[in-house]
Amino acid sequence: MTQLNVAVIVLAAGKGSRMESEIPKVLHVLAGKSMLAHVLDSASSLEPEHLVLVIGPDMSSVAEVASEAAIVIQHTPLGTGHAVKQAQEKLNDFKGDILVLFGDSPLITADTIQRLVAARHDGTNPAVVVCGFNSADPKTYGRLITNEVGELESIIEFHDANSDQREITLCNGGVMVVDGEILFEFLSQISADNNKGEYYLTDIVALARKNGRVCRVFTCKEEEVSGINTRVQLAEAESIMQGRLRERAMASGVSMIDPDSVFLCSDTLFGRDVILEPNIFFGPGVSIGERCRIRAFSHIEGTDVASDSTIGPYARLRPGSEVGSGVQIGNFVEIKAASLETGVKVNHLTYIGDARVGAYANVGAGTITCNYDGISKHRTDIGKGAFIGSNSSLIAPVTIGDGAIIGAGSAINRDVPSGALAVTRSKQAEKGGWARRFFGLRKS
Ligand code: UD1
Ligand code: CA
Repeated sequence: MTQLNVAVIVLAAGKGSRMESEIPKVLHVLAGKSMLAHVLDSASSLEPEHLVLVIGPDMSSVAEVASEAAIVIQHTPLGTGHAVKQAQEKLNDFKGDILVLFGDSPLITADTIQRLVAARHDGTNPAVVVCGFNSADPKTYGRLITNEVGELESIIEFHDANSDQREITLCNGGVMVVDGEILFEFLSQISADNNKGEYYLTDIVALARKNGRVCRVFTCKEEEVSGINTRVQLAEAESIMQGRLRERAMASGVSMIDPDSVFLCSDTLFGRDVILEPNIFFGPGVSIGERCRIRAFSHIEGTDVASDSTIGPYARLRPGSEVGSGVQIGNFVEIKAASLETGVKVNHLTYIGDARVGAYANVGAGTITCNYDGISKHRTDIGKGAFIGSNSSLIAPVTIGDGAIIGAGSAINRDVPSGALAVTRSKQAEKGGWARRFFGLRKS
């Protein structure tokens, strides 16, 4: 494909009131990433010359997540045509194609976007190419009016359509690519003389036809252009996105026993031959190395795991953690901001936070790094090959030397030199026959 000059305009000024939320609609999250970030990431695959984001007033939080975009504010939401027009000031010197995307339609793929833009260069120089789809239930989508050879004549919004037009099943997905030579010229000619009193972007099609230009429909899947307006639609989109991410992971060599119960983030990375047991949740910022097995009911975020490690069942890995290769993290173990080096074993009922655990160290059941004193967090450093006896409290800041042993049940608050044994529990007392007498008394 020859390099085309493209500018992208993303519309996100709509209030999204049906989300019933304090948060602007496009900042709601799918697969660990905001709707808007999904759209911007797909758009960036075009390497656009300009990226303009149209937001409403009081949406500075939206501007913050889109640092790569030029921001324009649409003070009153007077329609999609009016919204696109706000971007003109940023594109005065631009020559090329202008792609319009909706910030609340995050399921559009980079592949579709690229093919849509390529369709503008099919040899007939269409003024507008619109993403359209056939729907058994076309709801309130705008309808695409085509001629006998399938060229697009106009787009009629549902609220302005007569009953015959509402019978049309070819719908407007909203996304379109427009010849930059004519976009703003035609937008300045559209009126708000319609049932919604809005400036419709869709009206540029009829105008282009009036000016003798051809317009086309690019067929896409409905799911790629369906906009999110409610929490129910957000959940439906999440489910579609999860399906895609699971397929991508499996295609790259990950086995899932029950894919539907594994929840991924858009940025979750896997090496080959990873096995995922049922019921696992991945938050943002996770990578899992080759041949790892993640066992059931684990919750993992912000953690890199090297190869050949086993995590779970019921493990929780929290942000800032690094797990080396051949590590075993077992049931009811929580790891936070800690690095576990090669071959470490932390198999049962343990909390390791703000710590380093050196290679091949063995952390016994019920060990706690007491990292918080009520005011500040402190670090625990466990040397390589150390053995931490079960049910120990390591009261940070504290260092356990290489190869040291901590006796089970100890509370350690002073550094332990390498190779030493440290035990803090009190001596065992025995009273011969005491128990027998005790039970005997209870019996009578
Ligand atoms: C639009 C199309 C419709 C199509 C549908 C597909 C128009 C006139 N209609 O309708 O043909 O079937 O999308 O989903 O284009 N926005 C602004 N400022 C505004 C109005 C909208 O930024 O003044 C943004 C919204 O935030 C949203 C996008 O534009 O991201 C689409 O707006 P929306 O009101 O949802 O358009 P529809 O009525 O769904
Ligand atoms: Ca919509």
